[in-house]
Amino acid sequence: MPFSSPPYMNDVLPYPPSGNTWLHTGRWRWVEERFRQVCRRYGYREIRTPILELTDLFVRSVGEGTDIVSKEMFNLVDRGGRRLTLKPEGTAPVVRAIIEHEMLAAHPLLKLYYIGQNFRNERGQKGRYRQHQQLGVEAFGSADPALDAEVIELAVRFYREIGITDQQLQINSVGCPQCRPAYREELKQYVKPTLSEMCGDCKSRYEVNPLRMLDCKAPHDVEILSGAPKLLDWLCEDCGEHFRSLRRHLEVMSVPHQIAPQLVRGFDYYTKTAFEITSGGLGSQNALGGGGRYDGLVEDCGGPAAPGIGFGLGMERCLIAMDSLGIEFETEDEAPAVFLVALGESAKSAAVGLLTKIRGAGISADMDYVGKSLKAQMRLAGKLGARLVLLIGENELKEGVVSFRNMMTSQQETVPQSEVIQRIQSWAME
Ligand code: HAM
Repeated sequence: MPFSSPPYMNDVLPYPPSGNTWLHTGRWRWVEERFRQVCRRYGYREIRTPILELTDLFVRSVGEGTDIVSKEMFNLVDRGGRRLTLKPEGTAPVVRAIIEHEMLAAHPLLKLYYIGQNFRNERGQKGRYRQHQQLGVEAFGSADPALDAEVIELAVRFYREIGITDQQLQINSVGCPQCRPAYREELKQYVKPTLSEMCGDCKSRYEVNPLRMLDCKAPHDVEILSGAPKLLDWLCEDCGEHFRSLRRHLEVMSVPHQIAPQLVRGFDYYTKTAFEITSGGLGSQNALGGGGRYDGLVEDCGGPAAPGIGFGLGMERCLIAMDSLGIEFETEDEAPAVFLVALGESAKSAAVGLLTKIRGAGISADMDYVGKSLKAQMRLAGKLGARLVLLIGENELKEGVVSFRNMMTSQQETVPQSEVIQRIQSWAME
């Protein structure tokens, strides 16, 4: 039996199967590069953290009662007995790194971005995989709602620039440790009489993480919770003013948004702003990306008191949404400029030497190692999209020349071996 990839983990390929064109390496690079460009424009610098972290980091930051920590992490123990976890999300590792390297001391306002793999042992379906990639930003050191607006507008602009025209932004406030406990009690009081009718997940959330009941998808629970008290009505003065101010900034920036009073996200670290961006073409897993503020997280992880805000955008969902919108990709041209055709053994040896010289001059070039006939070699040149074919046979060898054939115009000429590089370069300019 041949092996297959682990369940719900994708291969990204230069030649993806038809029907899965979003798994094309060129598309991934195209989107990643656009994300990098936008981040640089807004003053964010790239950070890369290991694929593994100590398990306790996620327990402490994401929270013990969350789905991620309680049932979705890929854990392992190393030979030293350390408990490690393949990172399920990108925020906690970035927080760990900035504390470890004391980055806030030199950069009190620290703006970072990352592109990284995440692992969650979830039930797989379209748009939900056990390995997924996130494009994320994290900004530390300011509690100013204008920074929330910047982060949100960056995400919206990124989607706009890659052509996702049907994005919808939902915002909410999840309050803070001052105002949230009272709301939590109010919500429990509201749910209590009907708790026995609710799904098993909500019954356990009622005990460990009552706010998470609000984004339950079970139809009867949705109905019950539609009349629940709203967190926005329970915010303290500080959280309320922060939310109003964020909305004013978004209006000034002309960023359309909806208030989603039941938007709570699956992490314990959020405070105040929470947001999500959705797209219609994604089906049930419709969140393109999401994020929020986490003003206590750096301190909770052993660092200085420093507020923060960020987001993570799902790469796979982004590409699926682009596919469903029929967005064209300008993937980079990977065709070789030059293809060498050798006829006969001694010509092969000359061609190998020439190929190395051409590549050494910075020109992309390739040759065939499989087909022997002229026809087979020309077919491969055509399939690869080479613009120029260089042919060396017995005659060319004897005369110290190479035959050039322009594949666009079918024009041919003979060039002395010593002038090959110069001639390729001048052809490229023609
Ligand atoms: P999250 O909402 O769990 O947030 O993930 C962000 C995005 O990653 C989701 O909206 C979705 O597009 C994508 N995503 C998540 N899980 C999967 C999956 N199993 N398969 C495919 N795509 C997935 C976070 O992870 C936070 N760390 C975001 C953040 C950064 N908040 C503040 N800073």
